[in-house]
Amino acid sequence: MNSPALAPHRGGALDSFVRLRGVSKRFQVAGDTRAILADLDLDIRREAFIAILGESGCGKSTLLRLLCGLDSAYDGQILVDGVAPKIGNDEAGIVFQDPRLFPWLTVEQNIALGLARFGLERAEVRQRVREHIALVGLAGFERALPHQLSGGMAQRVALARAIVARPAFLLLDEPFSALDALTRSQMHDQLLRIRAAADLTMLLVTHDVEEAVYLADRVVVMAPRPGPLRASVEIDLDYPRNRADTAFQRERERLHALLGHGAHSTHSTLSVHSHS
Ligand SMILES: Nc1ncnc2c1ncn2[C@@H]1O[C@H](COP(=O)(O)OP(=O)(O)OP(=O)(O)O)[C@@H](O)[C@H]1O
Ligand SMILES: [Mg+2]
Repeated sequence: MNSPALAPHRGGALDSFVRLRGVSKRFQVAGDTRAILADLDLDIRREAFIAILGESGCGKSTLLRLLCGLDSAYDGQILVDGVAPKIGNDEAGIVFQDPRLFPWLTVEQNIALGLARFGLERAEVRQRVREHIALVGLAGFERALPHQLSGGMAQRVALARAIVARPAFLLLDEPFSALDALTRSQMHDQLLRIRAAADLTMLLVTHDVEEAVYLADRVVVMAPRPGPLRASVEIDLDYPRNRADTAFQRERERLHALLGHGAHSTHSTLSVHSHS
């Protein structure tokens, strides 16, 4: 992880890296207009690690698509590093909810696609790809085709493809959902190492509360119905975090309550902060 960053950075340290104001998103379904996101405000500071929790269908993946410019049909304002997101923006890397690998390309060819637009020497591409294959624990599978991989291995290829160009903004949509507990916790630590090695702003969608508390410095909880965020919770614990700590468990409980899991779910106790 010592190679220099490829993506250009625009500077401007103090303002929000990501800024959403009054963002609304509707879909047309069979002649009906359905609101998915409504009047969403969010600020993410540079180099923050934000986790997003929320019920299935509340619009998390939709939000990620807006943030990386895959969908530009929304109302309101979205700025990422000062500009509206657009496809092909060198700054953003994304891991989708499904791996989306090209079935006819090998693992290394799929990962090399993440570098295609930079016009690097072949030797450099090979070197970076090898480095990232090792990083996601897939050494030995360089020449494998996607159908020869497990679901979790395919997810790790997608992660390597997203980070191989060292983006400044990394969007992760449940990237670890198909991994066993041990591999998942190894990937968590790997992700924190990647974060420490680069000035990276990260947004992770997850259904795993423990994962959110282990990784993120702020956890955003989306409401099931379109509207403002339900809560934004700072996780004020030093890294590396210990899942067995009382403070860790307290944060986990707090988030479970905010999500409405278990007996102590009361929406009236929710607090919303919008700093960082
Ligand atoms: N292209 C589309 N056309 C119409 N409706 C869509 C489209 N994409 C998403 N939706 C709807 O938007 C809502 C939010 O979808 P989204 O995929 O963002 O949810 P999510 O929060 O990521 O859920 P999950 O946790 O299950 O991944 C859903 O009701 C979905 O049916
Ligand atoms: Mg989703």
